[in-house]
Amino acid sequence: MDTFISNSPEETFGLGRRWAAELRPGWVVGLIGDLGSGKTQLVKGLAAGLGIPATVTSPTFALLQEHDDGTLPLAHIDLYRLESQQEIVSAGLEHYLTTPDGVTAAEWFERWLGRDWQPGQPLPESAKPADGQVLRLVHLADEGETKRKIFHEDFSD
Ligand SMILES: Nc1ncnc2c1ncn2[C@@H]1O[C@H](COP(=O)(O)OP(=O)(O)O)[C@@H](O)[C@H]1O
Ligand SMILES: [Mg+2]
Repeated sequence: MDTFISNSPEETFGLGRRWAAELRPGWVVGLIGDLGSGKTQLVKGLAAGLGIPATVTSPTFALLQEHDDGTLPLAHIDLYRLESQQEIVSAGLEHYLTTPDGVTAAEWFERWLGRDWQPGQPLPESAKPADGQVLRLVHLADEGETKRKIFHEDFSD
């Protein structure tokens, strides 16, 4: 588990941009943190690092925004309005969370992990990365006006 202290939106953006260089097809970046904690800001950095020219915004109403004009396809998902794994599957998003063709960045990833899951616990079987895939689980915490604590841990098979 690594901890990054961000002191500005730009630093969070920069972290995402650096992470983009590590991403490989099949990776899922699962983002957990309250409204305003910087999930979308981190995804903006990821997108920039992948060379995606579009302005990235929270896909809360669309659920999914696909960006296919970068060095890797990026699927940006917002699970806020979905209550359970079952609803996520019914919305057709399972593929993006389990076996993405490119990279998936999913906000409100705790919705996929389920109500009973708590930080520090093993991943539920259904959320474990498949062979050769990586799940980067990211927790963002608001620590003041412009300070954010960003924990991350990689899970792989
Ligand atoms: N260190 C920081 N990192 C990220 N965002 C920050 C930081 N400090 C202030 N902010 C502000 O917090 C808000 C984060 O918004 P956003 O990324 O949309 O959050 P989320 O997607 O988690 O709801 C933005 O208005 C941003 O300018
Ligand atoms: Mg957001």
